[in-house]
Amino acid sequence: MTSGETERRVIVVTGASKGIGLHLAEHYLGHGHAVAGCSRGASSLKHDLYAHYQADVTDERDVSALMKGVVHRFGRLDVLINNAGVASMNHIITMPTSTAESIIRTNLVGSFLCTREAGKAMIARKWGRIVNFTTVARPLALPGEAVYAASKAGVEELTKVAAKELGSFNITVNAIGAAPVMTDLIRHVPTEKIERLLDQLAIRRMGEYRDISNVADFLISEASDFVTGQIIYLGGVC
Ligand SMILES: NC(=O)c1ccc[n+]([C@@H]2O[C@H](COP(=O)([O-])OP(=O)(O)OC[C@H]3O[C@@H](n4cnc5c(N)ncnc54)[C@H](OP(=O)(O)O)[C@@H]3O)[C@@H](O)[C@H]2O)c1
Repeated sequence: MTSGETERRVIVVTGASKGIGLHLAEHYLGHGHAVAGCSRGASSLKHDLYAHYQADVTDERDVSALMKGVVHRFGRLDVLINNAGVASMNHIITMPTSTAESIIRTNLVGSFLCTREAGKAMIARKWGRIVNFTTVARPLALPGEAVYAASKAGVEELTKVAAKELGSFNITVNAIGAAPVMTDLIRHVPTEKIERLLDQLAIRRMGEYRDISNVADFLISEASDFVTGQIIYLGGVC
């Protein structure tokens, strides 16, 4: 268990089929927790304490069925990690409407729907941890990332307001602002663009999976019950 905890948590990780979400699912399984992952596609992850749900976070019925399925299978739902996300770099002038809508729906509406449905299960037990995902591209206002950064700005506000609305139920809501981590999400971003982004960080390196799970461990721990509504950026973005 993390941070000396003894209780097994039931943790939902959205977007768990690859990248950061897969890392988090494996990380928490490795620490003895039960994990329910979701993605639109299938997962190759096999573990006695892992259940994969093919669910689209933009689909209200999918999300409701996912959270109800988790409670039915594991008896409760303690932690939601709203990791599922999509990105697309484009100048505003050439950004297709369908791409913009997909980014907003997945990153913002998806996080909202999962928070709402998982929040119901957490309120019933008066305990919960919600971790959202934003990006250093939001405070850095990077050219080419207008819609992506705007979707994550929405996630940040969702985080702060949800923290206030859910605080009296012992549910904390925070967000991790990741620096670039080499996953499929950014694999096709030109090297010079990533280099320019790294130049703006206090600590000039790519993010690694361990950087993400380190912050997630802190945010979901029992001891972090007084930490809520916070956005923690990695790499030093001031
Ligand atoms: N990598 C970075 O540099 C970076 C930096 C800052 C923030 N982030 C954030 O970190 C999170 C994870 O990113 P990543 O780099 O790990 O991305 P990734 O490797 O592209 O993985 C994205 C995951 O989300 C799932 N997903 C996408 N749309 C979905 C939907 N509508 N419903 C359910 N699942 C969906 C994907 O599976 P399916 O396609 O099968 O659905 C996949 O499992 C995102 O929120 C991203 O914005 C990443």
